[in-house]
Amino acid sequence: MSETTPEQRPVGIDAATAILRQNDRGGYTIPTDGLYPFQWSWDSAITGLGWLTIDEKRAWQEAETMFRGQWDNGMVPHILFHKGAESYFPGPDVWGSGTKIPSSAISQPPVWATTIRFMYEKCRDQSLAAEKLRALLPKLMAYHEWWYRERDPGDTGLVCSYHPWESGMDNSPAWDKPLGVVPGVSWEYKRRDLGHVDPEQRPHKPEYDRYLYLVDFYKDHGFDSQYIYDNCPYKVIDVGIVSILQRAGNDLIELCCIADYEDGVEALQAELERTRSAINKLWSSEHHCFFNHDLITGQALDEVTSATVLPLFGGLADKKQAAAMADLIGAWLDATKVGLSSTHPSSPRYESQRYWRGPVWIHINWMIALGAADYGYSEIAQRLQDSARDCVTAAGFWEYFDADTGGGCGGDDFSWTAATTLFWLSNPA
Ligand code: DGY
Repeated sequence: MSETTPEQRPVGIDAATAILRQNDRGGYTIPTDGLYPFQWSWDSAITGLGWLTIDEKRAWQEAETMFRGQWDNGMVPHILFHKGAESYFPGPDVWGSGTKIPSSAISQPPVWATTIRFMYEKCRDQSLAAEKLRALLPKLMAYHEWWYRERDPGDTGLVCSYHPWESGMDNSPAWDKPLGVVPGVSWEYKRRDLGHVDPEQRPHKPEYDRYLYLVDFYKDHGFDSQYIYDNCPYKVIDVGIVSILQRAGNDLIELCCIADYEDGVEALQAELERTRSAINKLWSSEHHCFFNHDLITGQALDEVTSATVLPLFGGLADKKQAAAMADLIGAWLDATKVGLSSTHPSSPRYESQRYWRGPVWIHINWMIALGAADYGYSEIAQRLQDSARDCVTAAGFWEYFDADTGGGCGGDDFSWTAATTLFWLSNPA
């Protein structure tokens, strides 16, 4: 990263830096105070990219702290509860993982190898980067192996997911049908999110009842992966996870080559090939995107969401599919006031400010922009970057943005919005 004087710095850099420092809890960064007081996996990965522009050692520490909470079977949990906090529900007692660092029992979109590749390539201190990479590689490999072994035991090429929280896109309308058949818990609980954020911007109670049923289900069955695979009432192929895993797998192979690390590389290459062959089953030639899939009913989940174009990021689309998705995204950007909405605005389930049912998420715009640029759609990439920048410039560092107005929604002073501003928005496409 080149040095700049304060006068040359693009607007927002100092504020974004201050947010990362304010959310730093010593070795890990919380997404935002109050609403999310722990370390979340994909937030942390993306936040590491922001740290890289400020303090390279601190950036590597973000990854090291997360991987300290890796389970023995290789899973990287979606939340590490490093310290107690009353401001969040459900906490470690509800998850009951019994791990040394208390954690949740599901994962999150596996973007780590991708962000670590960026960190390695952009790190000015290359001896630090080489040392840190060497230590992280076996852990990253174990994480990817976990996905294929435990989430695709039948070697279909498409890993599955057991919880909407695992997708990171909790209340996406794509999950309405599969979540709708999950029973709700009958015990009483008090949500804490509604004390921090306008309820209009958060999921509804029936969804929470079902989210919690699934949490109980894993715990009640001793986190037995085979039992859960065979019996979990919610089991989907999430195009977002599949695409992010694919890009990260390719990045991991690249990192292994750089470090002369061979363990697991051949098997990983075979998994990536399997996914490349399987992905076409999810393609919708009618809607020009890849649909999520319900493994319980065998049905496509025909909702156009930002996840359904993420195969661009995963390098999983062929040329014709990429062209069709680029057209879809272009028209989609025309149809919303700001950014790429998380749910297509033509959907009857679209809600411009309710979490994953419409709002614009900057890190998703970043991923899609990267994917579009890889396929040669630089104009689309530029539009995604410009519209993301407009959101942040006009409203600030919010968790997400109302897709109809650009207004800030969810948590304020949000780490991944600050980090993507530092890493992406303050640079040309
Ligand atoms: C929440 O609590 O809203 C999170 O998305 C779960 O990870």
